[in-house]
Amino acid sequence: MVNYIIDYVLFEELIPVNLIIFWMWCITIVAEIYLFAQNGYGLVFVERRKTMEKKNLDWGKLTFSYQPTDYRYVANWENGSWDDGELSTEPTVTMSECAGVLQYAQAVFEGLKAYTTKDGRIVTFRPDLNGERIERSAKRLVMPVFPKERFVDAVKKVVKANEAWVPPFGSGATLYLRPFLFGIGPVIGVAPAPSYQFRMFATPVGPYFPGGAVKPIRVKVSDYDRAAPVGTGDIKAGLNYAMSLRAIDEAHREGFNENFYLDSKTRTNLEETGGANIICIKGNKFITPKSNTILPSVTRRSLEVVAKDYLGMEVEERVIPFTELKEMDEIGVCGTAAVIAPVGEINDHGDVIKVPTGMEKCGPVLKKLRDTLTGIQMCEIEAPEGWIVEIK
Ligand code: PLP
Ligand code: COI
Repeated sequence: MVNYIIDYVLFEELIPVNLIIFWMWCITIVAEIYLFAQNGYGLVFVERRKTMEKKNLDWGKLTFSYQPTDYRYVANWENGSWDDGELSTEPTVTMSECAGVLQYAQAVFEGLKAYTTKDGRIVTFRPDLNGERIERSAKRLVMPVFPKERFVDAVKKVVKANEAWVPPFGSGATLYLRPFLFGIGPVIGVAPAPSYQFRMFATPVGPYFPGGAVKPIRVKVSDYDRAAPVGTGDIKAGLNYAMSLRAIDEAHREGFNENFYLDSKTRTNLEETGGANIICIKGNKFITPKSNTILPSVTRRSLEVVAKDYLGMEVEERVIPFTELKEMDEIGVCGTAAVIAPVGEINDHGDVIKVPTGMEKCGPVLKKLRDTLTGIQMCEIEAPEGWIVEIK
């Protein structure tokens, strides 16, 4: 609108000059209308990009909770193919009462974040890996694959459209993206749904664990199984989280932040938590559980590179017997939502393993890993090739 006013004033001043200026003015106005409709900003001969006004939120006080933002991406699969997909302002979904997701929990999802860099750019972190993972998750639940190239494109579209919701650099908050794919068509016999929807919404979030980003957490060893030996523990299916709700509810009521799950077959080896992988530090070693029933965390795989190539650590991915935990110098959990949260205490049915770094502060190695990872994510530290995708 400002541009219109400027142009109007110019026009008023210049109209007596000559016809050429009048025609130039007309062309500008047409270009303005076009650009305004497309992008929400216009130009007066030279493109002038409108600075996005941020939403008026108390960014530093955000928790990890859902707040609908302006746009989400929606694509539908029917009769063997995906439609073109589009941004939508509609935060609700209407579907059959007999939808595959409602009857047989046919749903998979992802989680990734967008960050504001110190110089004000907006970036995302390795979205291609989330795209690959949701492809794998979909195949496991007999759902159509939403191609990872389209996934990355949808990430760019959703973040760009919700630019005003991306928390500012240094606020401690980020824009969390939740892509998900679910059976929307009706199915009553146990079978894959006949049609699907892929959606991706964005929501600004603060730290996952109450008490802030680096406050040590207290966990308990769960008596429940998270994943069957040849089940779905290695994909991001909603059903894995539904069956962990009772365990997390009990843990919370007993004053713990999370559960450590052991392998269901032998109940002797460390697996992961309900929403994060586990990492252990022993001397100069970065050790994580090797198991085909845990989620291959993007954060953990990135930290393995950070530990080895940036911090000169030795990286081990191997079976970790639960009994070895008491020998570790530092223990933490890692994931997109959790980033890295230090673990202070592990309660195994009343036997408490006190991690040497205690309940007051994050250990030095986990802190260094965290600072390096978030430094890479916010472009303060140079990232390995292809890790950062800028939203333009
Ligand atoms: N493990 C589980 C069960 C999770 O839900 C998550 C969260 O995504 C992770 C691990 C961490 O994975 P990522 O680092 O890819 O977010
Ligand atoms: C994530 O870290 O993105 C997750 O999906 C974990 C979930 C428990 C919030």
